[in-house]
Amino acid sequence: MVKLFRCVLFVCLVVKCTAFLDPISTGFFVTTAASSTFFMLAEITGLTSLRCKINFMECCNKHHIKPNFTGLEYDLKNKLYGQDLVFTTVLRSVKSHIENPNPSKALVMSFHGWTGSGKNYVTQMIVNNLYVKKLRSSFVHVFNAEVDFKHQSQLQHYKDQLQIWLHGNVTKCGKSIFIFDEMDHMPEGLVDAVKPYLGNNPSIHGVDYRKCIFIFLSNTGGKEINKKCLETWRSGYSRSTIKLSDMQELLERVAFNDKSGFRLSGIVEKNLIDHFVPFFPLEREHVEKCIKDEIKKLNLKRQILSSEVNEIMDELQWIPTDLRLYSKSGCKRIAQKVGLVLAT
Ligand SMILES: *[C@@H]1O[C@H](CO)[C@@H](O)[C@H](O)[C@H]1NC(C)=O
Ligand SMILES: *[C@@H]1O[C@H](CO)[C@@H](O)[C@H](O)[C@H]1NC(C)=O
Repeated sequence: MVKLFRCVLFVCLVVKCTAFLDPISTGFFVTTAASSTFFMLAEITGLTSLRCKINFMECCNKHHIKPNFTGLEYDLKNKLYGQDLVFTTVLRSVKSHIENPNPSKALVMSFHGWTGSGKNYVTQMIVNNLYVKKLRSSFVHVFNAEVDFKHQSQLQHYKDQLQIWLHGNVTKCGKSIFIFDEMDHMPEGLVDAVKPYLGNNPSIHGVDYRKCIFIFLSNTGGKEINKKCLETWRSGYSRSTIKLSDMQELLERVAFNDKSGFRLSGIVEKNLIDHFVPFFPLEREHVEKCIKDEIKKLNLKRQILSSEVNEIMDELQWIPTDLRLYSKSGCKRIAQKVGLVLAT
């Protein structure tokens, strides 16, 4: 009988037929009031976890937040090209932050580099290997400065709203991730609204933000990164000799001084960004790999000629114009170029 009741209750909760539940449950409540209350409670808590398990709703626990570091390492190693510094920095910092049961502060990373160098791509890799529902997870929050914070005149409104959102989101799930895209277009001063949540405050209005991850994306510093790569190339060294520490200082300085959402920001000044991660410009060999990946996706029944790959490469713009070393748009829009060349 107990089993039958459980079954009915389960079906009812799933299809939300509360009206239907009442007469039936009263019929079954033959035991004392006390024991039936206990029974109900147990049933409901059990059901919540069952509902998480069957994907009925997304839960802020191991059913829907499943870090897969093997997967993240695999993706960074095999699907991202020419980014040695990104690989080590991102993998290590994400892993150690998540494996730490009591992180001292939220993990804050700022990705810098030209378009098409892989900033969004790496962000997706992180999300995909942490949340079962990937980008559709309700614990993943993406803000695009160009869309969400368009008007400098509404600065105060944006600031208030951002703080209310963060409070609401992190109250629901401490292991939330916040992504701020197009930081170069963010109104100056806005980002400081999130400053209190990035430090080592154990609790702000009763909420602990230290398990969160914040990722900022921008093209700011891209020019300087490219220049550093070019200098290294000119002096005959491989760019894998560039150290993260060389770049951190440079990016920190550029972010604070250039026109971008970080200009004169207290977040930079107070060293709340754990890692400034440089994305290098892509060379021919890297772009060639992106092209081959795209071609593979097409499942063509014939071999691809190297002349076709070269033709696709020629569709892209290369800089500096005399040396033609780096793709101006990285691996962006490669799919379209591949389509264009192979269709003709
Ligand atoms: C983690 O990712 C790897 C590589 O993508 C995959 O083979 C593996 O099945 C994943 N592990 C889990 C537990 O999902
Ligand atoms: C969480 O953040 C989103 C923006 O990603 C916002 O639309 C939503 O209202 C927030 N939720 C809460 C409970 O504050």
